[in-house]
Amino acid sequence: MTNLSGKSVLLIIGGGIAAYKSLELIRLLRGKGCAVNAIMTRAAEEFVTPLSVACLTGRKVHNALFNLTDEIEMGHIELSRSADLLVVAPATADLLAKMATGQADDLASTALLATDKAVVVAPAMNVRMWTHAATQRNVETLRRDAIQIVGPNEGEMACGEFGPGRMAEPIEIAAAIEAALTPAVLPLSGKKVLITAGPTREPIDPVRFISNHSSGKQGYALAEAAVAMGAETVLVSGPVNLPLPPGAQVMPVESAEQMLKACEGELPCDIAIFAAAVADWRVANAAAEKIKKDNGRIPALAMVENPDILKTIAQRKDKRPAIVVGFAAETERVAEHAREKLARKGCDMIIANDVSATTGVFGGDNNKVHVITPLGAEIWPEMSKRDVARKLMEKLAHELAIRQAKS
Ligand code: CTP
Repeated sequence: MTNLSGKSVLLIIGGGIAAYKSLELIRLLRGKGCAVNAIMTRAAEEFVTPLSVACLTGRKVHNALFNLTDEIEMGHIELSRSADLLVVAPATADLLAKMATGQADDLASTALLATDKAVVVAPAMNVRMWTHAATQRNVETLRRDAIQIVGPNEGEMACGEFGPGRMAEPIEIAAAIEAALTPAVLPLSGKKVLITAGPTREPIDPVRFISNHSSGKQGYALAEAAVAMGAETVLVSGPVNLPLPPGAQVMPVESAEQMLKACEGELPCDIAIFAAAVADWRVANAAAEKIKKDNGRIPALAMVENPDILKTIAQRKDKRPAIVVGFAAETERVAEHAREKLARKGCDMIIANDVSATTGVFGGDNNKVHVITPLGAEIWPEMSKRDVARKLMEKLAHELAIRQAKS
């Protein structure tokens, strides 16, 4: 049993002398239990016959875009949709150029443009064509489009020249296909991450509230990073103006009390990150009806302290998450205040950021953080909130793995 068994590959054979090696590739793939559908370009048929390809794939070979029978049996969209992966071997300079520029004027290029599947490409061409600036530009574009390039190898070429341009060997292409079809083991798969984000709103009356300037960007970026690392991600969010991070379960809340209740309802979890800017106080005597102006009399607002969500969860006796992370917004003596907060709240890590007016952190896209743990402090260079999120989630995944291995 290999990662190829039960899979289906759409092989696009371009017109080059290396097309004969594609026959061997088909044999290898089928030997590992992988079904192969083949598309041949018109030029490919000058090098190998559709009959040879059909014999080896055990299936009809597709070669014409406007073939009515084909469109009824299996249209070009369906051809790429039913495959787990597309492979172009040999990929000629012409096919690479078409892919890089999104052309679709024959069945091969149309199938390549109509797919959202992974694509592995094995270029094969004369050394000068390969090293030409135009081809290298196209290859660079394809790499940026996440197309995987295998080879070409260096060696003597059919045209008598020497250099890079020989198609990778079928065994190398099959290995690249197998790797592309092997699901990556994500560092947080099977783990649950709870994140709070945004401000809270503490009502004064049904139309007024006390809140703050938190944009929620750092917390949302953390949720995005946790999802990308495979975690079951719950984002308890105060009111913000941001697109929901795909793949996260978002629980909208308004007040600190609602935020705490939502977080407690999500325990147990493996990692909890409290990035929300929770209002420290709420109005004790919030009015049930809108407070009206009363001949210049100013309403007196009595304030009471809100529950500290981070502290409450970090100091729980039961269902305490394995790692609890707090944020600290400071305007001066950042690290010193953060160390004090780490001890006072009982959490495992504090991410401290300088939110003094000159830094532009509040509402901005960048962040410069100090990462404080009981073992010491790291100062990270200024980077985007997305990069802070990725780097932090990687650090937490690593830390979680160590803690869980020890316990
Ligand atoms: N926090 C919380 N619940 C609160 C207040 C804060 O969960 N009621 C969390 C925040 O999400 C953040 C950390 O605690 O992770 C911030 O701690 P806090 O003591 O509020 O620090 P600052 O907001 O930086 O304020 P202060 O300067 O008053 O310490």
